[in-house]
Amino acid sequence: MKHILVVGSMNADLVIQTPRMPRMGETVRGGGFRVNTGGKGANQAAAIAKLGGDIKLLGCVGADPYGEMLLSNLSRFGVQTDGAQTVDTATGVAVITVCGGDNCIILDAGANACMTPEVIDANAALFAWADYCVLQLEIPLETVLHTARAAKKNGAKVVLNPAPMCPLPEELLALVDLFVPNSSEAELFLSHPVEGIEGAKAAAAEIRARGVPDVIITLGGDGCVYSVGGSVQHHGIVDTPVVDTTAAGDTFVAGVLVCLTEGRSMAEAVRFATHASALCVSRSGAMASVPTRDEVEAFMARNGK
Ligand code: RIB
Repeated sequence: MKHILVVGSMNADLVIQTPRMPRMGETVRGGGFRVNTGGKGANQAAAIAKLGGDIKLLGCVGADPYGEMLLSNLSRFGVQTDGAQTVDTATGVAVITVCGGDNCIILDAGANACMTPEVIDANAALFAWADYCVLQLEIPLETVLHTARAAKKNGAKVVLNPAPMCPLPEELLALVDLFVPNSSEAELFLSHPVEGIEGAKAAAAEIRARGVPDVIITLGGDGCVYSVGGSVQHHGIVDTPVVDTTAAGDTFVAGVLVCLTEGRSMAEAVRFATHASALCVSRSGAMASVPTRDEVEAFMARNGK
């Protein structure tokens, strides 16, 4: 089986539910407060493990209870955490407000900011091991670029989930093999609106024209568009009750990656990932809401797909 290395963030998610978002200066009553393990890097790594991939994670946590909780949950889900660093800064935190199934997130990078290029260089063995290297943007951008260079130098394919989006250097784009933004990230990247499925198809073609070989744009309730080898296709969602969308994008990225490392086509990968993220949104939480491989396969069989 091919090897996947995720280089990214690990967060403690402080989650609260509210019937409606407060206006600035207003207090509203919420409930169901909980602390979950999350972070886009950790979620994607956990999801890859749960969906059957061979996965290692390189990232930083603090020497605190949140850091311990993250490392123990990641190991429990099957992520190899030999690349996880414990540093003298508090574990990253995400404050998440869930409202009507959707969410707003505010991040404090904490230990994730300690992911420097030096940490990448000190873990060269992981890059010799990896066939795919998966990146997001919750660690410093210079480290993302340095990581992509290290991955490429070792012959690995580079996958970038540009979340949260920021201006990206051309050199990074030139190193990316698969780019997976959602529609608002695609809008920020292209500096123009991306409207509807046709708009997303045009956006995918535009991103490819900027030198990225393969592109998938996720569209929430409209599914996704994917562009591989020149053609652009749309894939719709699988209908499930939406409880909490946290980690749905992470689950989607993981589902695609697991299928690609198994040599399956992008069409099959997108179909599998769509079913996995549909199950994820039907549950609350981050990495805990990601389904297992068996659950996704049973769900696909029930749907006749
Ligand atoms: O993608 C979801 C994740 O984004 C959450 O788990 C939170 O930690 C933020 O990083």
